Amino acid sequence: MSDRLAIIAANWKMHKIHTEAIQFAQKLHYLLDEGDLARVEVPICAPYTDLRTLQTLIDADRLPFKLGAQNVYWEEEGAYTGEVSPRMLRALDVDYVICGHSERRELFAETDEMVTKKVDASFSHGMTPILCVGETLEEREAGEAESKVVGQLTASTAHLSTAQVTELVVAYEPIWAIGTGQTATPDDAQEMCGTIRRRLEELHGAEAAGKARIQYGGSVKPGNIEMIMKGPDVDGALVGGASLDPEDFARILTAW
Ligand code: 13P
Repeated sequence: MSDRLAIIAANWKMHKIHTEAIQFAQKLHYLLDEGDLARVEVPICAPYTDLRTLQTLIDADRLPFKLGAQNVYWEEEGAYTGEVSPRMLRALDVDYVICGHSERRELFAETDEMVTKKVDASFSHGMTPILCVGETLEEREAGEAESKVVGQLTASTAHLSTAQVTELVVAYEPIWAIGTGQTATPDDAQEMCGTIRRRLEELHGAEAAGKARIQYGGSVKPGNIEMIMKGPDVDGALVGGASLDPEDFARILTAW
């Protein structure tokens, strides 16, 4: 493990109404002690409708969790019915924004160009993007996993400043491992996270690349987090299904 602070984020996707969000955060806090949270940063990436409630709770009860959003639009304000701006998120103390999750790329036709605008909009409003990259099963079987991931990464990070890369979080999420129960092996996860770091190094130098944090995501569970976290380039995880249950998520935060 490196000296980078680990970051294990909950991605609730389209789950939990605001009252369920409160119950979750209170229970998770109850299940953890201070030592557990000294070594890992824990963003909860909740639906937009939960963010104000979670912000109020985190603030009032001084809960040691960060707030994350699952998406953002890149304009500050305007006639964009249904969209949420980076300014609106920052006003709710959102620190992290998931950009380019594979579900958004696949189901909502987000392109690298759109994802890049979201990365830039997050940074310019003082939030940290969690840039998601990953290949499909067909791409992996065709031997194209690395070129897909490096392509997505390059498209959305080549133009960043060194300071931004230092703050950046990249989530490697192989699409075939998301919600399928099929996890990449710890070696596969490390290998691609290492490839991501080497590419960041080529683009921005060793110092910035050494500070960026890289997560693995895809069927992370209490039973496999320990092996996944052993990879020297794996700094954390982006957890979907297993982040919905506070007991499972607490075990993921502590079992490594
Ligand atoms: P699962 O953990 O449910 O496989 O989801 C992974 C994911 O997409 C996190 O962003």
